[in-house]
Amino acid sequence: MQQSTTKMNEALDIKVTKAQESRLTGTDFSQLPFGKVFSDHMFIAEYDNEKWGNLQVLPFGPIPMSPAISALHYGQAIFEGMKAYRQENGKIGVFRGNKNHERFNRSAARMSMPSISSDIFMQGIAALIEIDEKWVPSQDGYSLYIRPVMFATDPYLGVRPSDKYTFALLTTPTGPYYSKALKVKIETEFTRADEGGVGFAKTAGNYARSLYPFAEAQKEGYDQLIWTDAVSHEYIEEAGTANLIFVIEGKLITPSVRSTVLDGVTRDTIITLAKKAGIEVEERRVSVKEILDGIESGSVTDAFAAGTAATVTPIGEIGYNGKIFTLPDPSTRTISSGIAKTLNDIRYGLIPDEFGWNWIL
Ligand SMILES: Cc1ncc(COP(=O)(O)O)c(C=O)c1O
Repeated sequence: MQQSTTKMNEALDIKVTKAQESRLTGTDFSQLPFGKVFSDHMFIAEYDNEKWGNLQVLPFGPIPMSPAISALHYGQAIFEGMKAYRQENGKIGVFRGNKNHERFNRSAARMSMPSISSDIFMQGIAALIEIDEKWVPSQDGYSLYIRPVMFATDPYLGVRPSDKYTFALLTTPTGPYYSKALKVKIETEFTRADEGGVGFAKTAGNYARSLYPFAEAQKEGYDQLIWTDAVSHEYIEEAGTANLIFVIEGKLITPSVRSTVLDGVTRDTIITLAKKAGIEVEERRVSVKEILDGIESGSVTDAFAAGTAATVTPIGEIGYNGKIFTLPDPSTRTISSGIAKTLNDIRYGLIPDEFGWNWIL
């Protein structure tokens, strides 16, 4: 392995160890199952003695660790998900990475984990993408998914916040997301989050607890779940890994962000673009009854999931206590498809980025 020390800017020294051989030539970009193919390198930083250090870019691979690390036993683990896009002019833009950095630190605070500076977060991404630049796809609809993760590494079985942590950045090229309309189930037995809990944090346990209800829903033929509030199950919160947005009588309606709902970057982006386009937006509590009655009366004309992975995925059918409610055909949904197109055009640098969302490397 060749070793060198790269100074990214005045602030940070990042040690770079290059992989001897790239796996790029053996990678078929037309067959990219999500999250399975990783680029040649990863970024790592370690926290000890109350500070981050040992910043390095190194070949992607296993990290040696004790089986006693507290992340494995008590779940101090958080992550993020964001994307880099190959712009029309060949440059690479990371979409709204500052929002993911802010959310990462909110998750860290709730899980009693240390915050990470935007320098480490952003310069780590820049250093990693610089060395793995060829892994950023240029085909239409493709992107490089960036997965920041932090986990507790104290080899200690006592229940208390760890003293040591590892921060890592992994990247995985992803292909276009063909969004067939989803069949979703309104979940009224299991819950994702409750007031005072950790629903707003992107922490491992939120996803672990969702797996069993999701598998049960899949057995019934559903693609995804709609979570409701843990107290009454009368109010809609969000979907499995996306926020929910409805169009009711021409207005965009979305459940307000609260301690039980993840504050999605895509949701925020869509709200901003909708307002700019003169569409009225309401962020408020949205009841199951309002949506189901509205589908029956025809006032609810659109429902979609909004998230980094899928951007805008139409919901075709909603199941509630065994009854199926069918939404209008996705081809009629001009508001959401128009916003989705604008969003994609900004991400790929096809139209001016007037909100300054693309962080160009
Ligand atoms: C539970 C949950 N809600 C919403 C979202 C959408 O958030 P974003 O648009 O930032 O990807 C995600 C995905 O990150 C998620 O996991």
